[in-house]
Amino acid sequence: MRLMNRVALLTASGSGIGRAISKRFAREGAKVVVNDINVEGGQKTVDLIKEEGGEGLFFEADVSDATKMEEMVHFTLANFGRLDILLNNAAYLDFQGARPLTEVSIEIWDRAIAVGLRSYFLGYKFAIPAMLKNGGGVIINISSVGGMEGAHWYSHYNCVKAAIINLTKNVALDYSRQNIRTVCICPGTIETEAIAKFFTSEHPFKKMRQNMIPIGRIGRPEEVANLALFLASDEAAFINGAAIPIDGGIMSGKFVYNFKEIISSIGNK
Ligand SMILES: NC(=O)c1ccc[n+]([C@@H]2O[C@H](COP(=O)([O-])OP(=O)(O)OC[C@H]3O[C@@H](n4cnc5c(N)ncnc54)[C@H](O)[C@@H]3O)[C@@H](O)[C@H]2O)c1
Repeated sequence: MRLMNRVALLTASGSGIGRAISKRFAREGAKVVVNDINVEGGQKTVDLIKEEGGEGLFFEADVSDATKMEEMVHFTLANFGRLDILLNNAAYLDFQGARPLTEVSIEIWDRAIAVGLRSYFLGYKFAIPAMLKNGGGVIINISSVGGMEGAHWYSHYNCVKAAIINLTKNVALDYSRQNIRTVCICPGTIETEAIAKFFTSEHPFKKMRQNMIPIGRIGRPEEVANLALFLASDEAAFINGAAIPIDGGIMSGKFVYNFKEIISSIGNK
């Protein structure tokens, strides 16, 4: 077991990627604190962990709330005695809020930053001192391939995801010598509730997105969990400050100039 005797705190883990990582960490021996704003979802993650013989507790909190974030770290220490791994995973995920920049409401902009970026700062702020008490730790941030490039109508999300990548690099520089390692995972499209509730399996976007992905399919939360496990483990001891895409190859190119199609249409003279 790769995380035996480690304690992990995972934000926004009552669903999707956070749930898959919580289960994977627990299966590898970690004691986990599952957080979510949604009590039912968070409790369900804990139940699933316990069904597999793992150890987990739920802490309800809106991660944009500084007091709650500090309490959550204290809760982890009070119940499990230490903190080794933090997963910052929350984001403002309302696709209905997508608009050209000037039409994005101030409320949505502020909420996207509060949930998706302020919470990551708060996670670092309260987790690092706790980790230093037991000699260090690992902080994994969930960004997105959306943080590595632009997208139409999605500035409120993509700016937050880009900021997370740079925040990760800054913290890596500031705290590496104190044995704090921090890395960023940048998923492409992953089959989670966030995607499923908006795009049904018959939705044309889904087909189109699948076709854009070189591997030819959408990713699975368990695949992101496999990467998170590796990054949290000692096997990744030399990986620090990195932003790692897990995207079926979509960041390799968008086929804007598809020479295969151009050459086939004009003939290879
Ligand atoms: N699914 C994808 O295709 C994809 C791609 C790139 C990045 N991501 C990122 O992965 C992360 C997880 O997304 P997901 O797809 O698993 O979504 P999801 O909807 O399945 O899970 C998100 C969870 O966050 C919780 N949450 C929302 N606001 C919260 C708050 N203020 N405080 C605490 N919990 C809160 C929700 O209740 C939910 O349980 C997000 O950061 C998202 O941006 C997802």
